[in-house]
Amino acid sequence: MHLNFIKFDTIDSTNNYAKENIHELESYDVIVAKNQTSGRGRRGNTWVSSEGMALFSFILEEDKSLTVNDYLKLPLIVGISLLETLDKLKPDMYEFKWTNDVYLKNKKVSGILIERKNGKLIIGIGVNLNNKIQDDLKDIAISLELNYDIEEFIRLVIRDFINNFESFKLGNWSKILEKINEKNFLKNKDIIVKVLDKEYSGKAFDIDYDGRLSVCINDEIKYFNVGEVQIIKK
Ligand code: BTN
Repeated sequence: MHLNFIKFDTIDSTNNYAKENIHELESYDVIVAKNQTSGRGRRGNTWVSSEGMALFSFILEEDKSLTVNDYLKLPLIVGISLLETLDKLKPDMYEFKWTNDVYLKNKKVSGILIERKNGKLIIGIGVNLNNKIQDDLKDIAISLELNYDIEEFIRLVIRDFINNFESFKLGNWSKILEKINEKNFLKNKDIIVKVLDKEYSGKAFDIDYDGRLSVCINDEIKYFNVGEVQIIKK
């Protein structure tokens, strides 16, 4: 697959650039920046960016043969692909935090923000690859602290994503889901799921066939499509 790189030293956000220029962008165009001044996370959070992180967004034009339900699984497929790439680069006990974060030693390694505009998906990825974590984030974030070529890393991530996505389109979701559940960071943990202004607390179990997190709440299994998960520390 040919990747077309659009490179910046500093930009506000690679996802913003993709949104603003969406008409000119096509599948596997990649926007990459050494640094971002207004990196964005999910739910309106800020993504604190610094040099040495892999900061990029790539485009995926929607495939008309896929359904809305298929696209609900995309964050999981991107997340597990990223975990697989990291594990090949520096093998370790990575875990997959539903819906799409990679964790290591209970700390976040990477974040993914998927947005949609004009029938195109913008897959924004931030990875603590070569950088050091700033002091005030050390409790929640971890870096691989490598000295890896960032463009090469991005090529590996997108290659792993394409492999999984093609396999998904051929009907192999069960196999991918199995890999995800093997790495399920939340499994058997007591959690709170926040959905809009509601909070649900219970024990997390597997991710189900529809990509939903199953949570046992008062002896009843409930399934979550979306939500922000917080772990209850005991
Ligand atoms: C999250 O965990 O909340 C998602 C973080 C996503 C960060 C990446 S960095 C590259 C791309 N550009 C952005 O502004 N955000 C994503």
